[in-house]
Amino acid sequence: MKLICANFKMNLTSRVLKIYLDEVSGKIKDNVVFFPSVLYLSMFKERGYTVGSQDISFKEFGSLTGDLSVTQLKEFGIDYTIIGHSERREFYNDSKYVKNKVKIALTNNIKTILCIGENLKEFEEGVTLDILKKELDTALKSNLKYINNDNLIIAYEPIWAIGTGKIPTNKILTETIKEIKDYLQESYNLKLKVLYGGSVNLENIIELEKISLIDGYLIGGASLNPDKFLSLINKVN
Ligand code: PGA
Repeated sequence: MKLICANFKMNLTSRVLKIYLDEVSGKIKDNVVFFPSVLYLSMFKERGYTVGSQDISFKEFGSLTGDLSVTQLKEFGIDYTIIGHSERREFYNDSKYVKNKVKIALTNNIKTILCIGENLKEFEEGVTLDILKKELDTALKSNLKYINNDNLIIAYEPIWAIGTGKIPTNKILTETIKEIKDYLQESYNLKLKVLYGGSVNLENIIELEKISLIDGYLIGGASLNPDKFLSLINKVN
């Protein structure tokens, strides 16, 4: 079964989420992981869902105002975390912290969804693969002893596809995901799952499902409406 990650980002409130949870009740399979705001993790946990955090601090404890440590998040029952999302790389300088965050997550037995992706300029210049390799190297090189084929998952998210409604063609996506998998195998002897993220929606999911190399999806906007999200995940094999 493919892995489906619902990334709510900084959206929805507890009142709306109560309605959401009632609507999806009994219709969510085990392959779905919810990433709501940490404030609402327990609402999802109480209903028996697998949950993750959208980020973790690069340190385990200490004087870091506003940060959340993996130890604190584990108390809320997270099994997963997203690390290196492009929004965090852009606004919070996260590329600098990815290496430490991956180490902290994995040494605390938290499955890590590592986001990688090129921006539009890089895509147009044809340097996508260089960017992806660099991001992979930064996260993996010093952490190899903690990584196995199950605890690290790659989310390939072209930055220009996030929230824009534009996605790569199936040909480009197939090539890129194959290149990511080949690189992981050849350079690190790893066989990791690779998810696709960036404007996954009800209109494009049928085409995306034709790409056998995709092991799942990281879904933002299209996960916010319970009816649409259910229709979407019902189309994923
Ligand atoms: P989107 O977001 O589905 O709204 O494009 C995906 C993501 O940022 O993970």
